[in-house]
Amino acid sequence: SCSEDKKWLGTPIEDLRRIPECSHALPHLKTTHNHTVTIRTDLLREGEMPFPYPTKFKDTWDDVSVKMPCSEKNLFPMDIEVMQPIPLLKSKNHHSLTMSQEQIACLLANAFFCTFPRRNSRKSEYGNYPEINFYRLFEGSSSRKIEKLKTLLCYFRRVTQTRPIGLVTFTRQTLNSPPNWERSQRPFTRLHITCEGNIEDNGYGMLQVDFANRMVGGGVTGHGLVQEEIRFVINPELIISRLFTEALESNECLIITGSEQYSTYTGYAETYKWKDSFKDQRPRYCFVLDDWQRKCTEIVAIDAVKYRHFLEQFAPDKMKRELNKAYCGFHRHNVSNKHLPAIATGNWGCGAFGGDTRLKALIQLMAAAEAERDVAYFTFGDSLLMKDVHEMHTFLTERRVTVGHLYSLLIQYFHAVCKNSRTAKPDYSLYSFIYDKASSADTLDSAKNSGMS
Ligand code: AR6
Repeated sequence: SCSEDKKWLGTPIEDLRRIPECSHALPHLKTTHNHTVTIRTDLLREGEMPFPYPTKFKDTWDDVSVKMPCSEKNLFPMDIEVMQPIPLLKSKNHHSLTMSQEQIACLLANAFFCTFPRRNSRKSEYGNYPEINFYRLFEGSSSRKIEKLKTLLCYFRRVTQTRPIGLVTFTRQTLNSPPNWERSQRPFTRLHITCEGNIEDNGYGMLQVDFANRMVGGGVTGHGLVQEEIRFVINPELIISRLFTEALESNECLIITGSEQYSTYTGYAETYKWKDSFKDQRPRYCFVLDDWQRKCTEIVAIDAVKYRHFLEQFAPDKMKRELNKAYCGFHRHNVSNKHLPAIATGNWGCGAFGGDTRLKALIQLMAAAEAERDVAYFTFGDSLLMKDVHEMHTFLTERRVTVGHLYSLLIQYFHAVCKNSRTAKPDYSLYSFIYDKASSADTLDSAKNSGMS
């Protein structure tokens, strides 16, 4: 529980960077070879509706674009007012797509009415894409689906009452050269850790982690209703990523900038309830900085590995996979770290995916250190986890343990403890192991320094 006196530990949250305060001017928004923009950037004006580009629909029916309901190739053609072909964000391709919130609303209305062609069977050419048509939401009468529909209908009501004026960018990012974890000399960055609050409310202006499925949005159009699905229904523009985002590979992530929150909720999973319509007061980037007109909300979808047995996750290849996945999500090319906000995260991979919170916290701290960003960690009510991770973080920073050194300790833990463990969960915990080994290494170091070795 989180009812004791200390609700947070480490660096005060006010000391961590947020956007838009920390950001620098964004480059001028324009179409490039790896950025598709479906509106007229030259006509963008603060506070005004963006114009679609091109104004007349270009019909394509190929394997690099979304097959549209309005295509004449569609067996059940629909009349909808959209734009140029929407590129598929395919695996291994670094590509961004910027659309207006109004275009997204139109696409989501089509998803609601299940009009996207070739998307109702897993066996089609979209087998490696998430489901986009909402048909499964209308099956059965579970309270989960009813509450999700209430949340989505609140969104549709809102966007039909008042046309939203902003833009949203979807970026598929691939990590081509992962860090050399063994050799990393990076020190740990700052940590704020709390058992109160959550990523979406208290992590505003930070890079917010979506505990994703490789099919982004996970079970949002079906039965699922944990962290990712909840975020996708309260910020429904996120759902449209499922239309064009191929399954994430182990070194990939999806970054979504500018989505708006339309609803509040209570509960979680079985107890989730739509609460109320929500007026999102996040500023738009453009008012101060440029012409992008996006809400200052940056979300990154990173999918952890699902573990069935506790010990699996300590295998070196698995730990490295998770480090690279998190780093892919946290790292930004060509942006100086003083312009990057802190990372708002929590028990990534440790609910539905069965990971160990204490290992995953370290993995995320290592990836954040390598990306030179601070962390705000929400333990979701777990005050013991808050204390344990804070104590470990203090130990690591006071002793100037580097990312590379901790990485070697994780590998040692696997070989010395996990590999030969006779029990499903070793008696010798990871944190005890780290305290023992790093302390004795310290003694060795000081012995060396005083010429006693
Ligand atoms: N803020 C902070 N922490 C949270 C929040 C929140 N809003 N919500 C939950 N937690 P889970 P996973 C904590 O199970 O294990 C979905 O279906 C809480 O302690 O959603 O990575 C995806 O589509 C919770 O137990 O993430 C994937 O298929 C923990 O975070 C799959 O679940 C983990 O949340 C991913 O599962």
